[in-house]
Amino acid sequence: MPDISTKYMGLNLKNPLVVSSSSLTQKLEGVKKCADAGAGAVVLKSLFEEQIEAETKVIEDGSDMLVHPEAIDYVRQMGMRIGPNEYIDLIEGAKKEVDIPIIASLNCITDRWWLDYAKEIERAGADAVELNIAIMPRSRGVTPGDIEKRYIRIVHNIRSSIELPIAVKIGPYFTVLPDIAGRLREAGADAIVLFNRFYQLDIDIENLKLKPGYRFSNPQEIYTPLRWMALLYDKVGCDLAASTGVHDGAGVIKMILAGADAVQVCSTLYLNGLEQISVMLEELGRWMDKRGFSSLSDFRGAMSKAESSQPEYYERLQYIKALVGIE
Ligand SMILES: Cc1cc2nc3c(=O)[nH]c(=O)nc-3n(C[C@H](O)[C@H](O)[C@H](O)COP(=O)(O)O)c2cc1C
Repeated sequence: MPDISTKYMGLNLKNPLVVSSSSLTQKLEGVKKCADAGAGAVVLKSLFEEQIEAETKVIEDGSDMLVHPEAIDYVRQMGMRIGPNEYIDLIEGAKKEVDIPIIASLNCITDRWWLDYAKEIERAGADAVELNIAIMPRSRGVTPGDIEKRYIRIVHNIRSSIELPIAVKIGPYFTVLPDIAGRLREAGADAIVLFNRFYQLDIDIENLKLKPGYRFSNPQEIYTPLRWMALLYDKVGCDLAASTGVHDGAGVIKMILAGADAVQVCSTLYLNGLEQISVMLEELGRWMDKRGFSSLSDFRGAMSKAESSQPEYYERLQYIKALVGIE
């Protein structure tokens, strides 16, 4: 078996497969199952900013005393300590029970909540933090620059409060991804995760109600993160992890060829069970053996734009029959 270990944000992973943040990693039992199934690391389910806001709101709404904004701030801070204690327990439990890196995940919309809490995560023994930043651009008066500044501020502030490695998980909806990726790196990101796949909204046409869309990705969704992995490899100055659409060993191989330091998986584990981790790793090992690769660094980024003799091919957006054979 070739050496499939990798380094991700300075962490030593025995293999590049990371179970991404989801209900699979919400409880200690789930984390243990992922470790037993052979994962290289896990990202815990995100702790959501709204969870904390919701808890503090109950206290605010129920008390006449708390009309003063400073008092509300105080209660909010208390709320931060009360609410997410279970999350700290999860980190501590996971560190005791499994021997793979544990990456905590914070969902950030503002930069208000997390500074003290990030320190607690560090104290609890997490190996790294992933910031799941997602801001819905819903108002006309807010510019892309305003929203991007918020991303940068969140990363910068958390960076200045902890020493832990920080990954930033973003969605694909930026006008100039290389620019925001570079600025996230400058703000202190040790890795960028390409990409989150957000909750999907659907409409029930019988009952005229909103309903959740299908939760899981399909293998064709690999194309967007694959292209961006290949474009950003060696250009950002930090590690890159893949997420979305990796369902099998071939997907893992493609992502590493494009430049991934680690490959996160989620939907395929829901659909095929945690055994899929070893199926994917075996496929990776067999492929490496066949090609004579003894470690991941033998081929990481080999199909990236940086290593290509035809870099323009990675930027092609339109179908042109003469070039791609189909219209
Ligand atoms: C049920 C479910 C829950 C998820 N919860 C989170 C979460 O709390 N935080 C997060 O960053 N991503 C969350 N995700 C997104 C996944 O981590 C992953 O980025 C996404 O599903 C794309 O990867 P995949 O194609 O391997 O599924 C969730 C996905 C699913 C299906």
